[in-house]
Amino acid sequence: MGMLDDRVCFITGAASGIGESTARRFAREGAKVVLADLKEDGLERVRRDIGGSGGGATSLVCDVSDARSVQHALAAAMERWGRLDVVFANAGIAGVWAPLEDLQPEEWDRTIGTNLRGVFLTLHFAVPHLKATGGGSVIITSSISGNRTYAQPGAAAYSTSKAAQVALMKMAALELGRYGIRVNAVCPGTIPTNIGQNMETRNTQEVGLPEIPEGEGNPALHGGIGQPRDVADACLFLASDLSLHISGVEIYVDGGESLLR
Ligand SMILES: NC(=O)c1ccc[n+]([C@@H]2O[C@H](COP(=O)([O-])OP(=O)(O)OC[C@H]3O[C@@H](n4cnc5c(N)ncnc54)[C@H](O)[C@@H]3O)[C@@H](O)[C@H]2O)c1
Repeated sequence: MGMLDDRVCFITGAASGIGESTARRFAREGAKVVLADLKEDGLERVRRDIGGSGGGATSLVCDVSDARSVQHALAAAMERWGRLDVVFANAGIAGVWAPLEDLQPEEWDRTIGTNLRGVFLTLHFAVPHLKATGGGSVIITSSISGNRTYAQPGAAAYSTSKAAQVALMKMAALELGRYGIRVNAVCPGTIPTNIGQNMETRNTQEVGLPEIPEGEGNPALHGGIGQPRDVADACLFLASDLSLHISGVEIYVDGGESLLR
């Protein structure tokens, strides 16, 4: 028996990194996973793998910053599986890291639009389906950035989006508790994924803060390195009945790294 047998889980950013790892973890626990992402080839690879191992998976190309796209993806998920139990609002970008006067308004909008508006839209269109199920679990991927860590020169838009996600999570937990819907967040530390591929840093030395050289960030307190599966395990806990009495909290998945910053 799996921890998520027959539960339908909608996962954004599922073609890579933390979302991919969580989709695989959930499927191994018996979930039907709906994989949503911008990247069709990545989605197809993950869907084939999960399907090949006996799990149930559907993939949908979806831009979380676009209302119609999110609405269509959730409607397609409902059409395929007929119910919704778990929502993992995980898709995100690092965006452009630059001094405030250098960061362009459209760059700010893109980061906030993907990370914050994307989570709002996912909630907005998923909540009616979760209510129809009679309850469920929503998990948002925030970060140590903007919540415990600020020593990241130029990361104003990213950190702001991540802090605001936690505020949104708490408001949603308050509002949705009476429908049996729990809402929580995971806040990963440094996790090796593809997130660096969509990141641009510009003139961050001009912010006048010391930059942490690549590979020399604070290590986890246990000395190890976090992996996507570590975040997936925390998400499994939050998605499953093991956390039935937990809502409105953020869980740091960073090996204690952010306590040192
Ligand atoms: N990797 C880290 O160190 C780290 C740390 C803290 C928080 N996070 C957060 O984890 C989440 C997942 O990132 P990751 O590290 O797995 O990176 P990743 O780049 O490997 O995966 C992110 C996925 O989101 C998708 N995506 C981006 N924009 C999208 C959009 N508009 N619509 C739909 N899908 C979109 C990408 O195509 C990609 O497949 C993000 O919210 C990120 O901010 C990552």
